[in-house]
This record gives sequence, C-alpha cells and structure tokens, in this order.
Amino acid sequence: MPPIPLPQALGPDLHLLRLPTEPSPDDDGLVLPADALVWRDGEPLLVDTGGARSAASFWAQLEAVLDPVDLRWVFLSHDDADHTGNLATLLERCPAATVVTTQLLGRRLRASLELPLERCRWLNDGERADLGGRTVVALQPPAYDGPATRGLFDEATGTYWAADCFGVALPHPVADASQLDLDVWEHGTLAYHRLLAPWVLDVDRRRWHRAVDRLRSLAPRLILGAHGAPIRRPDVARALDLLDELPDQRAEPAPDQAVLERLLAEVHGLPAAG
Ligand SMILES: [Fe+2]
Ligand SMILES: [Fe+2]
Repeated sequence: MPPIPLPQALGPDLHLLRLPTEPSPDDDGLVLPADALVWRDGEPLLVDTGGARSAASFWAQLEAVLDPVDLRWVFLSHDDADHTGNLATLLERCPAATVVTTQLLGRRLRASLELPLERCRWLNDGERADLGGRTVVALQPPAYDGPATRGLFDEATGTYWAADCFGVALPHPVADASQLDLDVWEHGTLAYHRLLAPWVLDVDRRRWHRAVDRLRSLAPRLILGAHGAPIRRPDVARALDLLDELPDQRAEPAPDQAVLERLLAEVHGLPAAG
C-alpha cells in the first residue's frame, strides 16, 4: 500500500487533503486526484469528502489538520461518488458538522445515505452566506458534470473551490500548476474538460464566455478543484483563458473495445480477439 500523503498547506489555516486515485492500466501513467479542502480556523469548514476508496487517506489527513469532533461545516460541491464517498462516516464521526447543500443536492444524496434535514444548510448558486464568521459565495463553475454542482468562493482569501472544473491528470505530484510543463498543463486541461463537459461544444459561445467571466469577475487569487493542481495567482488568468477556448475544441472518439483488448493483452498477456 503506498504511503499516505500529508495534507498540503496552502495558507496558515488552509489545507488540501491530497487523495490520489489508484492508477489504472488505461490511465497512461497519469494520476487524477479526488482531493478535499479544509479551512481550520474559526469554525472549521471541509469542502468535499473524497471517494470511499480513499477513506484511510482522507481520515488520516483530516485528523492531521483537526479533531473531527470540532468540524462545524461541510460544503458539498455535488453528489458524485468521488466527492461524497466519506460523507456517511463523517456524519457519524463529526456530530457538530452541518452539511451545506441545496434541496436538489440533498435529494440526490439521499439515494445513497441518510441525510437529516436538520443537519443541512441550503446554499444555492449565487447566494452568499456567513458560515461561522467566514463569508462565502456559492458559484457554479463554468464546466461541471452534475446539475447540483456549485463551487465555493471564500471572500477573505480569494480562494475558489471549483468542484470538478480546472482538473488535469497529473504525470507526477506537484505543489501547484506552475510545476507542470506548460504544454502538459494546457493540453491536459483541455483534454480533461472535453470529457467532463462535452456539452460545452453545443453551448452558445456568448453565454459560455459570460459563465467564465462570472468567475473572472471575482478575481480569484487561488483556484482549487478536486482533480488537479492548485492554480495560484500568476496562473489564474491563463487558466480562465483556457476555459474560454473550450467551445473551439473537437469531440474525441472514446477508446473502443479494440483498445480494451490491446490493454488486456499488454497487462495480462491475454490474446487480443480477432
Ligand atoms: Fe463530478
Ligand atoms: Fe469529480
């Protein structure tokens, strides 16, 4: 079993829980993390919970940052399994935690776990809230893969959690996007978003650029998502410009059964079907 990474400190009280997924033979040696974020100061706030297969790493890193019984808020970006995999356990281990959702998100979550309404605080796209002294705004990222998705913007630090948006498969661990070859970052970011949000190709371009501008207008100083590398201020403008380019991309054909058979032949020595 690989060693559990330490949380990455992004500020005095801001910690990224680094939750890389197990690479699969069809990942081309690239790793796509499914991270979570913690603000430790004041009333501690966790953003997303990683996937269930990262449970050991998630809990070890969370406990390295705070005592779970002190956790006060859990913002969920959306209901996908790689963001909510540890939520059921968390509801038991963090009895003081209120889950920041929406009505739609709560309904979708209840397909897989019990989420009492009295433990919820609804926060819709575009709404501002005071979560224990921390002023946050829920803001849907431009690219997303589920209808309940909202990101979270922290006004004091200018930090934006983008849910699935701004992801990129990583060839090696990095502290932030500036440590990736520019080519790898740009191509990887565009390739990732073509899969995340293929619907962008059908979107009216003015409306798409307005969605990117909505985030740009917040002038984020740090952009984080579950599936990539932190994007610090010098790279924020380029990251937003990359999103602007998305409607100009072409759909790529998905790997087919012949590709799977080649992979199986390579990995297990199975004969490729003729
Ligand atoms: Fe997702
Ligand atoms: Fe995700």
